[in-house]
Amino acid sequence: MDRIVSLPGDGIGPEVTAQARRVLDAVCSHHGLEIEWAEGLIGGSSIDAHGTPLQDEVIELCRGSRGVLLGAVGGPKWDALSVDVRPEKGLLGIRKALGLFANLRPAAVIPALADASALRPEVVRGIDLLVVRELTGGIYFGEPKGRGEEGGVRRGWNTMVYDETEVARITRVAFEQARLRRNHVTHVHKANVLDVSQLWMDVVEEVAKDFADVTLSHQLVDSCAMLLVRDPGRFDVLVTGNLFGDILSDQAAEITGSLGMLPSASLATGGFGLFEPVHGSAPDIAGKDQANPLAAILSGAMLLETSLDCPAGAADVRAAVSATLEAGFRTGDLLLEGEDRPVVGCRRMGDEVLARLGAK
Ligand code: IPM
Ligand code: MN
Repeated sequence: MDRIVSLPGDGIGPEVTAQARRVLDAVCSHHGLEIEWAEGLIGGSSIDAHGTPLQDEVIELCRGSRGVLLGAVGGPKWDALSVDVRPEKGLLGIRKALGLFANLRPAAVIPALADASALRPEVVRGIDLLVVRELTGGIYFGEPKGRGEEGGVRRGWNTMVYDETEVARITRVAFEQARLRRNHVTHVHKANVLDVSQLWMDVVEEVAKDFADVTLSHQLVDSCAMLLVRDPGRFDVLVTGNLFGDILSDQAAEITGSLGMLPSASLATGGFGLFEPVHGSAPDIAGKDQANPLAAILSGAMLLETSLDCPAGAADVRAAVSATLEAGFRTGDLLLEGEDRPVVGCRRMGDEVLARLGAK
């Protein structure tokens, strides 16, 4: 029996993870996999119940599991709290505690949704890229950090720091992923200004020597942001640090036209992983059965593939999601301006995916 932990979190997190669970249950039983679910609190819901965004018990629960399915954290209710006790701290805490250093964020166009992008159709058609973001280091965790006052002037500071082992291990993940795709890695940096990026440059070049079959290029982060909207089809795998990866992965997601569609995996050494949609907690529509559960469902597909070693199940989920969209079902976020289609809610979207599972 494989235990999977569900951490629904805040906002629309509980609604979308509920649908992902239904889909995972169906696929697992179809493929003869026995899973049991455990559930924990994270983020604002944990603050409300226990006064902290992440309890040690929850970390232990995850450690004893095969994988973790997370919803989203955060919301206006907790916005006034300081950064050390906010819901987001729970997410950062679990990434660090479980050693989830490799964040994989695929952004590809789903043909049925190509028109939803703000970019021209001929530009969108080529998008199939993977952002490999370092997730447990860099400016998110670097010391010194803090706020203070000097001579009556308020200051705030963080430190972007990496050591070579952190850079080398995420770079290896990127090259390995490239081998499963189109054999190209783009390293995204700011080496014209930052010393830390110069270290990345050296280490990425060294690691690349072990992957002669994969081509490597380096791209400054600002021009990368520009190229992502001008010619996104040129990118295969992008590898970068925590902060640049945070920003570029939202941009990459949005140019596909559907932030509400994109899953992610955060992996530790040995393949243990946490899977979550890239979108946030969308407090404005929380609890209204309006959220798009497809990113959570597709995160479930990544969990099937990675934690449960069931690529066939993952393929079933992806096929069912595509078939649901091709049949015309849309949640509100996927509807184009002026498009005349019935909009379905979160649960109904889950029903429609379930109905198409295994149906070829
Ligand atoms: C993400 C989110 C998080 C991050 C926040 C919620 C802490 O934006 O997963 O991209 O910045 O990493
Ligand atoms: Mn982000």
